[in-house]
Amino acid sequence: MVDLFCGAGGASLGFHQAGFEIRGAVDIDEDALDTYERNLTDEGIVDFEPLQADLEETTFDEIRDHFGLEKGEVDVICGCPPCQNFSSLRDTTPWPEDEPKDDLLRAFVERIREEKPDLVFFENVQGILSSGEGAYIKWFRNQMEKVTREEDTEEQGGYGVNLKLVNAANYGIPQRRKRTIGVCVYGADSDDIAVRSPTHTENPDEDDERERWRWVQDAIVRDDLVNLSKGEKQDDDPAHRARNHRQKTIDLMEAIPDDGGSWMDLRGTEHEDLIRECHQNIDSGAGSAYGRMAWKEPAPTLTTRCTTPSCGRFTHPEANRSITPREAALLMTFPREFELPDRISAAERVVGNAVPPDLVEAMLYSPTVEGMFPS
Ligand SMILES: C[S@@+](CC[C@H](N)C(=O)[O-])C[C@H]1O[C@@H](n2cnc3c(N)ncnc32)[C@H](O)[C@@H]1O
Repeated sequence: MVDLFCGAGGASLGFHQAGFEIRGAVDIDEDALDTYERNLTDEGIVDFEPLQADLEETTFDEIRDHFGLEKGEVDVICGCPPCQNFSSLRDTTPWPEDEPKDDLLRAFVERIREEKPDLVFFENVQGILSSGEGAYIKWFRNQMEKVTREEDTEEQGGYGVNLKLVNAANYGIPQRRKRTIGVCVYGADSDDIAVRSPTHTENPDEDDERERWRWVQDAIVRDDLVNLSKGEKQDDDPAHRARNHRQKTIDLMEAIPDDGGSWMDLRGTEHEDLIRECHQNIDSGAGSAYGRMAWKEPAPTLTTRCTTPSCGRFTHPEANRSITPREAALLMTFPREFELPDRISAAERVVGNAVPPDLVEAMLYSPTVEGMFPS
């Protein structure tokens, strides 16, 4: 497997857990690559250093050369291109004139076309399904259906594409995280590709084969994590360190009820004046800012600002501080010992950007393409 847009290695770890051999990984971000190297290269999970390159400009021939791979040797390309780039394109492949454009999605398809592996695994935000009234996804599907190996006819070639919106909580991740997962199989009919059914549910009944959702407490209540106050850190775990919030923020957190409360609970109470000015006249929305996570629920979607209290429901269920990078990594199912960047802003970014390893592992047990997978 070769991991494009590999980030800190969440998807790579999931592939590793499922028994795949990872032979290359590429990203542009130095913090992400450094994290990948510290955890996957240094731990012997992969035997290469990930490549720092711009995937808009780096061909798969160059990627193959860099990692010492033969053409056709790669069975799987995994790719999570960020879809935030709406700039205009060098127009080499037809893309409807009046529709929104995305360079990185296009670059991803170009890299696939240069290798044509058996399987392409794709992860993206929920919004890609609806962006531009479905234009991106329609374009992606169309392009993939047309990719044909030299030795094949058009009928034999092309990728079958199954794109499914999944909630990570339904696969045992202690986080509500809706993502588009794509499984594309060369030469297959799209209708024959099944994405795995949920293994977890919110309220399983007695004869349900699915397990209960995993909650915040299932991931972050651990004997090996010290209870921290603002600004403190655990000596033997540099990633378990709390932000040094301003007193104004601490006052607000103190007033917000434990276990799932938010600033909205302060309305009409003696603490009403602590509500941020920007929230005072809001009826809904922005309700999650400064909110506390609930012990017995999955965490909300962790973003690239997931240790910043003003950016979402990222405050600890009880302590007067936001979650630490370590707690965020555990809510993403990264292993306990996974090392993170020292700068908290870099740590929250690489964690928030990741695909939860256990979600990838779960997705790789597809009932219809199992013949391709390691036992
Ligand atoms: C959604 S994240 C991928 C997360 C990763 N799959 C994981 O599981 O940890 C997208 C990644 O694309 C990278 N990226 C953005 N633009 C890029 C480019 N032009 N070339 C290569 N990588 C790029 C970002 O640095 C980021 O790490």
